[in-house]
Amino acid sequence: MFPVHRPRRLRAKESIRRLVRETHLRVDDLIYPLFVIAGKNIRNEIPSMPGCYQESVDVVIKNAKEVYDLGIPAVILFGIPEHKDELASHAYSDEGVIQQAIKAIKDKVPELYIITDVCLCEYTSHGHCGIVRGNEILNDPTLELLQKEAVSHARAGADMVAPSDMMDGRVKAIRDALDKEGFSHIPIMSYAAKYASAFYGPFREAAQSAPQFGDRHSYQMDPPNRREALREVRLDIEEGADIVMVKPALSYLDIISDVRNNFDIPVAAYNVSGEYSLVKAASRMGWIDEKRITLEILTSIKRAGADLILTYHAKDVARWLQK
Ligand code: PBG
Repeated sequence: MFPVHRPRRLRAKESIRRLVRETHLRVDDLIYPLFVIAGKNIRNEIPSMPGCYQESVDVVIKNAKEVYDLGIPAVILFGIPEHKDELASHAYSDEGVIQQAIKAIKDKVPELYIITDVCLCEYTSHGHCGIVRGNEILNDPTLELLQKEAVSHARAGADMVAPSDMMDGRVKAIRDALDKEGFSHIPIMSYAAKYASAFYGPFREAAQSAPQFGDRHSYQMDPPNRREALREVRLDIEEGADIVMVKPALSYLDIISDVRNNFDIPVAAYNVSGEYSLVKAASRMGWIDEKRITLEILTSIKRAGADLILTYHAKDVARWLQK
């Protein structure tokens, strides 16, 4: 009780603050997303995501090298194919844009850990994450395509696959397919608690993956739900997920914390496109201090319990942390 207890004693100087600091953001925590587009010599800046680009395979390898040189351990790849159809055939073609990118990056930057996003929405003409019949997104028939996609990523040399489609049973289906094809050593990071969020808006522009009708509410989670996230995570762990992800991050810190406190496997959080765009826009207006805000946001995600953070800020953060 005051005056005996004076918490300010431990805040007096930066040196003592460093000694009692509870959470440390490190470059080792970060995963950088890359958007790979079909074609050659392409580098389109994404208007709503300054500093992020759609890059063709020949260009993305330079970016991957930069990421590696900054000390960031991993990238996650998203593809923008030349051609989209009802069955997302370019998602699981061995000549697909992601499959080519994996090989090219592994060739030039072999030490960089490559995670691939396993989903159909970037490859379907209708922009949904599954097979469509009428207005319905079919669950079980979609699993087969996801299996093919994951196996083709592994065959191209991916180190880890990350299913983001939110179909029921997809982790087990992918685990079975990988094991059967000789990839039992490839881990699965599941987007376990993925919410139907407006924060994905800029990504859908970047990946040209906005649904052409309806929305994703019949498969992604309802944002007001908290207990349901534990159920989704539990199911994915039972099905064989090695790492579970919460997405988005900033508006879902309670979910990250719940997952951290209830399970003992690594927890990832996706600091998504809309979260990035808000910071970039306000910083361009001169309304916020971009560096301080970014570090505060990412540190809060870590403090909530995330071990791994997927973030478009990763390269900036790696530079800031070096100094
Ligand atoms: C694919 C996928 C999405 C994101 C990651 N994987 C978009 C979506 O579900 O609509 C969003 C990432 C971001 O906003 O940064 N299903």
